[in-house]
Amino acid sequence: MIKVGIIGGTGYTGSELLRILAKHEKCEVKCVSSRKEKGKKIHEVHPHLKGFYNIEFVEPEFRIFSECDVVFTAVPHGEAIRYVPELYESGVRVIDLSADYRLSKEKYEEVYGKEHSAYIEAVYGLTEINKDEIRGARLIANPGCYPTGAILSAAPLAKLELIERVVFDSKSGITGAGVAPTEFTHYPNLHESIVPYRITEHRHYYEMEQELRKFQEDVKISFTPQVFPGSRGILTNAHIFLKGDLEGEEIERVYREFYRDCYFIRLQNDIKLSYVRGSNFVDISIHKGKDRVVVVTAIDNLVKGASGQAVQNMNVMFGLDEREGLDFPPLFP
Ligand SMILES: NC(=O)c1ccc[n+]([C@@H]2O[C@H](COP(=O)([O-])OP(=O)(O)OC[C@H]3O[C@@H](n4cnc5c(N)ncnc54)[C@H](OP(=O)(O)O)[C@@H]3O)[C@@H](O)[C@H]2O)c1
Repeated sequence: MIKVGIIGGTGYTGSELLRILAKHEKCEVKCVSSRKEKGKKIHEVHPHLKGFYNIEFVEPEFRIFSECDVVFTAVPHGEAIRYVPELYESGVRVIDLSADYRLSKEKYEEVYGKEHSAYIEAVYGLTEINKDEIRGARLIANPGCYPTGAILSAAPLAKLELIERVVFDSKSGITGAGVAPTEFTHYPNLHESIVPYRITEHRHYYEMEQELRKFQEDVKISFTPQVFPGSRGILTNAHIFLKGDLEGEEIERVYREFYRDCYFIRLQNDIKLSYVRGSNFVDISIHKGKDRVVVVTAIDNLVKGASGQAVQNMNVMFGLDEREGLDFPPLFP
Protein backbone atom coordinates (compact mmCIF):
# COMPACT_ATOMS: atom_id res chain seq x y z
CA MET A 1 0.00 0.00 0.00
CA ILE A 2 1.23 3.49 -0.88
CA LYS A 3 1.42 5.64 2.26
CA VAL A 4 -0.23 9.00 1.57
CA GLY A 5 -0.13 12.32 3.42
CA ILE A 6 -2.26 15.41 2.76
CA ILE A 7 -1.11 18.82 3.94
CA GLY A 8 -4.20 21.04 3.95
CA GLY A 9 -6.97 18.54 4.64
CA THR A 10 -9.73 20.97 5.64
CA GLY A 11 -9.84 22.89 2.35
CA TYR A 12 -11.91 22.02 -0.68
CA THR A 13 -9.17 20.20 -2.60
CA GLY A 14 -7.96 18.44 0.57
CA SER A 15 -11.45 17.14 1.35
CA GLU A 16 -11.86 16.08 -2.28
CA LEU A 17 -8.58 14.13 -2.04
CA LEU A 18 -9.97 12.40 1.05
CA ARG A 19 -13.23 11.60 -0.76
CA ILE A 20 -11.44 10.07 -3.77
CA LEU A 21 -8.74 8.25 -1.80
CA ALA A 22 -11.30 6.66 0.55
CA LYS A 23 -12.02 4.08 -2.17
CA HIS A 24 -8.54 3.85 -3.72
CA GLU A 25 -7.43 0.25 -3.37
CA LYS A 26 -3.68 0.74 -3.67
CA CYS A 27 -3.08 3.44 -1.08
CA GLU A 28 -3.84 4.41 2.48
CA VAL A 29 -4.10 7.94 3.86
CA LYS A 30 -1.79 7.94 6.88
CA CYS A 31 -1.80 11.59 7.91
CA VAL A 32 -3.80 14.73 7.12
CA SER A 33 -2.95 18.18 8.39
CA SER A 34 -4.89 21.07 9.78
CA ARG A 35 -3.43 23.71 12.03
CA LYS A 36 -6.90 24.89 13.07
CA GLU A 37 -8.58 21.50 13.52
CA LYS A 38 -5.72 19.33 14.82
CA GLY A 39 -6.91 16.60 17.16
CA LYS A 40 -10.35 16.38 15.53
CA LYS A 41 -11.44 13.27 13.63
CA ILE A 42 -11.82 13.66 9.86
CA HIS A 43 -15.62 13.35 9.99
CA GLU A 44 -15.93 16.06 12.65
CA VAL A 45 -14.80 18.53 9.99
CA HIS A 46 -16.10 16.60 6.95
CA PRO A 47 -19.33 14.88 8.08
CA HIS A 48 -19.89 13.48 4.56
CA LEU A 49 -16.81 11.29 5.13
CA LYS A 50 -18.12 9.65 8.31
CA GLY A 51 -17.35 5.94 8.29
CA PHE A 52 -14.44 6.19 5.86
CA TYR A 53 -11.56 7.33 8.11
CA ASN A 54 -10.49 6.78 11.67
CA ILE A 55 -7.61 9.25 11.90
CA GLU A 56 -7.28 12.75 13.35
CA PHE A 57 -5.95 15.96 11.85
CA VAL A 58 -2.34 16.63 12.79
CA GLU A 59 0.06 19.57 12.56
CA PRO A 60 1.86 19.76 9.19
CA GLU A 61 5.15 18.61 10.69
CA PHE A 62 7.98 17.19 8.59
CA ARG A 63 8.57 14.47 11.21
CA ILE A 64 5.08 13.06 10.56
CA PHE A 65 4.80 13.55 6.80
CA SER A 66 8.31 12.29 5.99
CA GLU A 67 7.02 8.78 6.84
CA CYS A 68 4.83 8.87 3.71
CA ASP A 69 5.62 7.65 0.20
CA VAL A 70 3.79 10.61 -1.33
CA VAL A 71 2.46 13.87 0.07
CA PHE A 72 -0.18 16.09 -1.55
CA THR A 73 0.27 19.75 -0.64
CA ALA A 74 -3.23 21.28 -0.90
CA VAL A 75 -2.43 24.69 0.58
CA PRO A 76 -2.70 28.27 -0.73
CA HIS A 77 -0.06 29.49 -3.17
CA GLY A 78 3.03 30.80 -1.41
CA GLU A 79 2.55 28.26 1.42
CA ALA A 80 3.61 25.04 -0.35
CA ILE A 81 7.16 26.43 -0.47
CA ARG A 82 7.29 25.85 3.32
CA TYR A 83 6.87 22.08 2.92
CA VAL A 84 7.85 20.91 -0.54
CA PRO A 85 11.67 21.32 -0.45
CA GLU A 86 12.25 19.42 2.80
CA LEU A 87 9.95 16.54 1.79
CA TYR A 88 11.48 16.43 -1.68
CA GLU A 89 15.05 16.38 -0.28
CA SER A 90 14.16 13.51 2.03
CA GLY A 91 12.96 11.39 -0.91
CA VAL A 92 9.21 11.70 -0.38
CA ARG A 93 7.37 12.22 -3.66
CA VAL A 94 5.31 15.39 -3.72
CA ILE A 95 2.24 16.43 -5.70
CA ASP A 96 1.70 20.13 -5.17
CA LEU A 97 -1.77 21.46 -5.93
CA SER A 98 -0.75 25.10 -5.44
CA ALA A 99 0.81 27.40 -8.04
CA ASP A 100 4.25 27.39 -6.36
CA TYR A 101 6.02 25.08 -8.82
CA ARG A 102 4.00 25.44 -12.04
CA LEU A 103 5.92 28.26 -13.70
CA SER A 104 9.63 28.70 -14.42
CA LYS A 105 11.46 30.49 -11.57
CA GLU A 106 11.77 33.71 -13.61
CA LYS A 107 8.09 33.71 -14.61
CA TYR A 108 6.97 32.90 -11.06
CA GLU A 109 8.94 35.83 -9.67
CA GLU A 110 7.58 38.17 -12.35
CA VAL A 111 3.95 37.05 -11.95
CA TYR A 112 3.88 36.71 -8.15
CA GLY A 113 6.13 39.70 -7.54
CA LYS A 114 8.46 37.97 -5.09
CA GLU A 115 11.56 35.84 -5.04
CA HIS A 116 11.06 32.06 -5.14
CA SER A 117 13.20 31.08 -2.17
CA ALA A 118 13.16 27.31 -2.77
CA TYR A 119 12.77 26.61 -6.46
CA ILE A 120 12.82 23.02 -7.70
CA GLU A 121 12.05 22.05 -11.26
CA ALA A 122 8.79 20.11 -11.28
CA VAL A 123 6.93 18.15 -13.94
CA TYR A 124 3.75 19.94 -15.01
CA GLY A 125 1.08 17.41 -14.17
CA LEU A 126 -1.36 17.69 -17.03
CA THR A 127 -1.59 13.93 -17.24
CA GLU A 128 -2.84 13.54 -20.81
CA ILE A 129 0.03 15.66 -22.15
CA ASN A 130 3.01 14.79 -19.91
CA LYS A 131 2.45 11.16 -18.95
CA ASP A 132 5.99 10.01 -19.79
CA GLU A 133 7.63 12.68 -17.61
CA ILE A 134 5.14 12.09 -14.79
CA ARG A 135 6.15 8.41 -14.62
CA GLY A 136 9.63 9.21 -13.34
CA ALA A 137 8.82 12.41 -11.47
CA ARG A 138 9.52 13.17 -7.82
CA LEU A 139 7.74 16.53 -7.80
CA ILE A 140 4.55 17.22 -9.71
CA ALA A 141 3.14 20.70 -10.14
CA ASN A 142 -0.53 19.91 -10.46
CA PRO A 143 -2.12 22.27 -13.01
CA GLY A 144 -4.44 25.12 -12.16
CA CYS A 145 -8.16 24.55 -12.60
CA TYR A 146 -8.67 27.00 -15.49
CA PRO A 147 -5.50 25.92 -17.36
CA THR A 148 -6.54 22.25 -17.29
CA GLY A 149 -9.62 22.73 -19.49
CA ALA A 150 -8.08 25.56 -21.51
CA ILE A 151 -4.84 23.79 -22.46
CA LEU A 152 -6.65 20.55 -23.31
CA SER A 153 -9.03 22.50 -25.58
CA ALA A 154 -6.23 23.95 -27.71
CA ALA A 155 -3.29 21.52 -27.48
CA PRO A 156 -4.20 19.32 -30.49
CA LEU A 157 -4.33 22.31 -32.86
CA ALA A 158 -1.29 23.99 -31.23
CA LYS A 159 0.69 20.79 -31.80
CA LEU A 160 0.08 21.26 -35.54
CA GLU A 161 1.02 24.98 -35.17
CA LEU A 162 -2.31 25.97 -36.66
CA ILE A 163 -3.45 28.59 -34.14
CA GLU A 164 -3.34 32.30 -34.89
CA ARG A 165 -5.03 33.29 -31.62
CA VAL A 166 -7.09 31.51 -28.99
CA VAL A 167 -9.48 33.35 -26.66
CA PHE A 168 -10.38 31.38 -23.53
CA ASP A 169 -13.66 32.44 -21.96
CA SER A 170 -14.12 30.43 -18.75
CA LYS A 171 -16.84 30.16 -16.15
CA SER A 172 -16.12 28.59 -12.79
CA GLY A 173 -18.10 27.43 -9.79
CA ILE A 174 -17.21 29.19 -6.57
CA THR A 175 -15.30 26.35 -4.87
CA GLY A 176 -12.41 27.55 -7.03
CA ALA A 177 -11.99 30.37 -4.52
CA GLY A 178 -11.30 28.04 -1.56
CA VAL A 179 -13.16 27.27 1.65
CA ALA A 180 -12.85 30.62 3.46
CA PRO A 181 -15.87 32.90 2.85
CA THR A 182 -15.21 36.35 1.41
CA GLU A 183 -17.26 39.31 0.20
CA PHE A 184 -16.76 38.01 -3.35
CA THR A 185 -18.19 34.58 -2.51
CA HIS A 186 -20.93 35.87 -0.19
CA TYR A 187 -24.30 34.45 -1.35
CA PRO A 188 -26.18 37.69 -2.18
CA ASN A 189 -23.17 38.97 -4.13
CA LEU A 190 -23.10 35.94 -6.41
CA HIS A 191 -26.61 34.47 -6.43
CA GLU A 192 -28.43 34.90 -9.81
CA SER A 193 -25.35 36.52 -11.26
CA ILE A 194 -22.20 35.83 -13.26
CA VAL A 195 -19.18 37.81 -12.18
CA PRO A 196 -16.15 38.48 -14.39
CA TYR A 197 -12.95 39.21 -12.48
CA ARG A 198 -9.28 39.84 -13.31
CA ILE A 199 -10.66 40.24 -16.81
CA THR A 200 -7.33 40.70 -18.57
CA GLU A 201 -4.89 39.90 -15.75
CA HIS A 202 -5.47 36.47 -14.25
CA ARG A 203 -2.31 34.59 -13.18
CA HIS A 204 -3.48 31.37 -14.82
CA TYR A 205 -2.87 33.06 -18.17
CA TYR A 206 0.89 32.51 -17.75
CA GLU A 207 0.44 28.79 -17.17
CA MET A 208 -1.64 28.47 -20.34
CA GLU A 209 0.93 30.45 -22.30
CA GLN A 210 3.88 28.47 -20.92
CA GLU A 211 2.37 25.08 -21.71
CA LEU A 212 0.81 25.88 -25.11
CA ARG A 213 4.06 27.50 -26.29
CA LYS A 214 5.77 24.14 -25.81
CA PHE A 215 3.62 23.04 -28.77
CA GLN A 216 3.52 26.26 -30.77
CA GLU A 217 5.97 29.04 -29.98
CA ASP A 218 4.03 31.87 -31.62
CA VAL A 219 0.56 31.03 -30.25
CA LYS A 220 -1.34 34.13 -29.06
CA ILE A 221 -3.64 33.75 -26.07
CA SER A 222 -6.33 35.77 -24.30
CA PHE A 223 -8.17 34.67 -21.17
CA THR A 224 -11.15 35.98 -19.21
CA PRO A 225 -12.44 34.17 -16.10
CA GLN A 226 -15.89 34.46 -14.59
CA VAL A 227 -17.66 32.83 -11.67
CA PHE A 228 -21.22 31.58 -11.68
CA PRO A 229 -23.33 30.76 -8.62
CA GLY A 230 -22.74 27.02 -8.53
CA SER A 231 -20.28 25.09 -6.42
CA ARG A 232 -18.42 22.95 -8.96
CA GLY A 233 -17.30 23.00 -12.56
CA ILE A 234 -15.45 25.01 -15.17
CA LEU A 235 -16.84 25.48 -18.65
CA THR A 236 -14.37 26.96 -21.13
CA ASN A 237 -15.26 28.23 -24.57
CA ALA A 238 -12.00 28.32 -26.52
CA HIS A 239 -12.49 30.58 -29.55
CA ILE A 240 -9.71 29.42 -31.85
CA PHE A 241 -8.76 31.53 -34.88
CA LEU A 242 -6.80 29.34 -37.24
CA LYS A 243 -3.87 30.29 -39.46
CA GLY A 244 -5.34 28.40 -42.38
CA ASP A 245 -8.58 26.58 -42.94
CA LEU A 246 -9.56 23.08 -41.91
CA GLU A 247 -12.83 21.24 -42.42
CA GLY A 248 -14.84 20.43 -39.30
CA GLU A 249 -14.31 16.70 -39.89
CA GLU A 250 -10.54 17.13 -40.14
CA ILE A 251 -10.50 19.04 -36.86
CA GLU A 252 -12.44 16.29 -35.14
CA ARG A 253 -9.99 13.75 -36.52
CA VAL A 254 -7.08 15.76 -35.08
CA TYR A 255 -8.66 15.68 -31.60
CA ARG A 256 -9.57 12.01 -31.80
CA GLU A 257 -6.03 11.11 -32.79
CA PHE A 258 -4.39 13.36 -30.17
CA TYR A 259 -6.51 11.94 -27.34
CA ARG A 260 -6.82 8.36 -28.61
CA ASP A 261 -5.35 6.70 -25.50
CA CYS A 262 -6.86 9.11 -22.98
CA TYR A 263 -9.58 7.43 -20.94
CA PHE A 264 -10.70 10.61 -19.18
CA ILE A 265 -11.18 12.65 -22.37
CA ARG A 266 -14.63 12.30 -23.93
CA LEU A 267 -15.51 13.95 -27.23
CA GLN A 268 -19.18 14.93 -26.94
CA ASN A 269 -21.78 16.52 -29.22
CA ASP A 270 -23.87 17.52 -26.25
CA ILE A 271 -21.87 19.27 -23.53
CA LYS A 272 -22.90 20.50 -20.08
CA LEU A 273 -21.08 21.00 -16.80
CA SER A 274 -23.52 18.66 -15.11
CA TYR A 275 -22.34 15.78 -17.34
CA VAL A 276 -18.93 15.76 -15.62
CA ARG A 277 -19.85 16.74 -12.06
CA GLY A 278 -17.99 14.80 -9.38
CA SER A 279 -15.88 12.97 -11.99
CA ASN A 280 -12.42 13.11 -13.50
CA PHE A 281 -13.74 13.37 -17.07
CA VAL A 282 -12.98 16.18 -19.47
CA ASP A 283 -15.78 16.59 -21.99
CA ILE A 284 -14.77 18.27 -25.23
CA SER A 285 -17.12 19.53 -27.92
CA ILE A 286 -15.89 20.92 -31.26
CA HIS A 287 -17.82 23.43 -33.38
CA LYS A 288 -16.54 24.77 -36.68
CA GLY A 289 -17.90 28.24 -37.47
CA LYS A 290 -17.28 30.57 -40.42
CA ASP A 291 -14.63 32.70 -38.70
CA ARG A 292 -13.33 30.38 -35.97
CA VAL A 293 -13.47 27.00 -34.28
CA VAL A 294 -15.10 26.93 -30.85
CA VAL A 295 -13.86 24.10 -28.65
CA VAL A 296 -15.86 23.78 -25.45
CA THR A 297 -14.46 21.89 -22.47
CA ALA A 298 -16.25 20.94 -19.27
CA ILE A 299 -14.47 19.74 -16.12
CA ASP A 300 -15.19 19.48 -12.42
CA ASN A 301 -12.69 21.98 -10.97
CA LEU A 302 -12.23 19.95 -7.78
CA VAL A 303 -11.71 16.64 -9.58
CA LYS A 304 -9.96 16.93 -12.97
CA GLY A 305 -9.16 20.56 -12.13
CA ALA A 306 -7.41 19.61 -8.87
CA SER A 307 -7.65 16.50 -6.67
CA GLY A 308 -8.74 13.93 -9.29
CA GLN A 309 -5.90 14.89 -11.59
CA ALA A 310 -3.54 14.82 -8.58
CA VAL A 311 -4.60 11.21 -7.89
CA GLN A 312 -4.31 10.38 -11.61
CA ASN A 313 -0.74 11.72 -11.43
CA MET A 314 0.01 9.67 -8.33
CA ASN A 315 -1.24 6.56 -10.15
CA VAL A 316 1.05 7.25 -13.11
CA MET A 317 4.03 8.07 -10.82
CA PHE A 318 3.66 4.75 -9.00
CA GLY A 319 3.09 2.65 -12.12
CA LEU A 320 -0.60 2.00 -11.41
CA ASP A 321 -3.48 2.12 -13.85
CA GLU A 322 -4.27 5.84 -14.16
CA ARG A 323 -7.97 5.07 -13.52
CA GLU A 324 -7.37 3.52 -10.08
CA GLY A 325 -9.76 5.16 -7.58
CA LEU A 326 -11.12 7.47 -10.29
CA ASP A 327 -13.18 5.24 -12.52
CA PHE A 328 -16.67 6.28 -11.50
CA PRO A 329 -19.37 8.04 -13.53
CA PRO A 330 -20.37 11.66 -12.98
CA LEU A 331 -23.22 12.65 -10.69
CA PHE A 332 -26.26 13.62 -12.81
CA PRO A 333 -28.61 15.43 -12.57
N1 LIG B 1 -10.35 25.03 -5.22
C1 LIG B 1 -10.02 24.69 -6.46
O1 LIG B 1 -10.89 24.50 -7.33
C2 LIG B 1 -8.57 24.52 -6.84
C3 LIG B 1 -8.27 23.94 -8.08
C4 LIG B 1 -6.93 23.76 -8.45
C5 LIG B 1 -5.94 24.16 -7.59
N2 LIG B 1 -6.25 24.74 -6.40
C6 LIG B 1 -5.14 25.14 -5.52
O2 LIG B 1 -5.03 24.15 -4.51
C7 LIG B 1 -4.63 24.76 -3.29
C8 LIG B 1 -5.67 24.45 -2.22
O3 LIG B 1 -6.91 25.00 -2.65
P1 LIG B 1 -8.24 24.89 -1.80
O4 LIG B 1 -9.32 25.48 -2.61
O5 LIG B 1 -8.38 23.51 -1.25
O6 LIG B 1 -7.86 25.90 -0.58
P2 LIG B 1 -8.65 26.14 0.75
O7 LIG B 1 -10.04 25.61 0.63
O8 LIG B 1 -8.47 27.57 1.07
O9 LIG B 1 -7.87 25.25 1.83
C9 LIG B 1 -6.55 25.53 2.21
C10 LIG B 1 -6.03 24.46 3.16
O10 LIG B 1 -4.65 24.74 3.44
C11 LIG B 1 -4.43 24.75 4.87
N3 LIG B 1 -3.42 25.79 5.08
C12 LIG B 1 -3.50 27.13 4.83
N4 LIG B 1 -2.32 27.73 5.07
C13 LIG B 1 -1.46 26.74 5.47
C14 LIG B 1 -0.10 26.71 5.89
N5 LIG B 1 0.67 27.82 5.92
N6 LIG B 1 0.44 25.53 6.26
C15 LIG B 1 -0.30 24.38 6.24
N7 LIG B 1 -1.59 24.35 5.86
C16 LIG B 1 -2.16 25.51 5.49
C17 LIG B 1 -5.79 25.03 5.49
O11 LIG B 1 -5.94 24.36 6.73
P3 LIG B 1 -5.49 24.94 8.16
O12 LIG B 1 -5.53 26.43 8.04
O13 LIG B 1 -6.46 24.40 9.16
O14 LIG B 1 -4.12 24.37 8.40
C18 LIG B 1 -6.74 24.37 4.49
O15 LIG B 1 -6.89 22.99 4.80
C19 LIG B 1 -4.50 26.26 -3.58
O16 LIG B 1 -3.16 26.58 -3.84
C20 LIG B 1 -5.35 26.46 -4.81
O17 LIG B 1 -4.94 27.55 -5.60
C21 LIG B 1 -7.54 24.91 -6.00
